[in-house]
Amino acid sequence: MKTVTESFDYKVYTSMDELTESDRALMSKAIDQLERAYAPYSNFHVGAAARLVDGDIFIGSNQENASYPLCMCGERVALYSAGASKPDVAVESLAITIKNQNMRIEKPVSPCGACRQVISEYEFRHNHPIRILLKSDSPEVYELRSVSDILPLGFNGTFL
Ligand code: THU
Repeated sequence: MKTVTESFDYKVYTSMDELTESDRALMSKAIDQLERAYAPYSNFHVGAAARLVDGDIFIGSNQENASYPLCMCGERVALYSAGASKPDVAVESLAITIKNQNMRIEKPVSPCGACRQVISEYEFRHNHPIRILLKSDSPEVYELRSVSDILPLGFNGTFL
């Protein structure tokens, strides 16, 4: 028997000012999406923006339904929009931000398990890591190198 330890590094920027111009623009687009979220049930708004390797940006926000399981997360809306419009172009970066209308959330919130799996599929599909930028109410921004860091031992198409 042996014990295997997996760890990962991520970057913490003190504010959006420290980001590159293109990452700042991407996060700004995600922030713009917060207003367009349809979240009357949770009051938890999610804005997302995916930048492809060719520079194109696809946006998304969470879309809820009175039949709760039908709610769709913001990051998945952005990725599915990119996949539907430009199926042959890899996603390079994904900015995600949230606004809980009921309370302030200081720490950047990372994607739910289902979204991690979907982001993983898009990495697998194009064999390209997707950088993930996360921001909540506080100015700080986290940068993750790839979803595989937050979905260790993940399931993917190599098993099928
Ligand atoms: N939500 C997202 O959009 N992304 C996530 O990664 C977590 C949750 C949405 C779904 C639902 O509309 C609301 O946030 C509360 O769960």
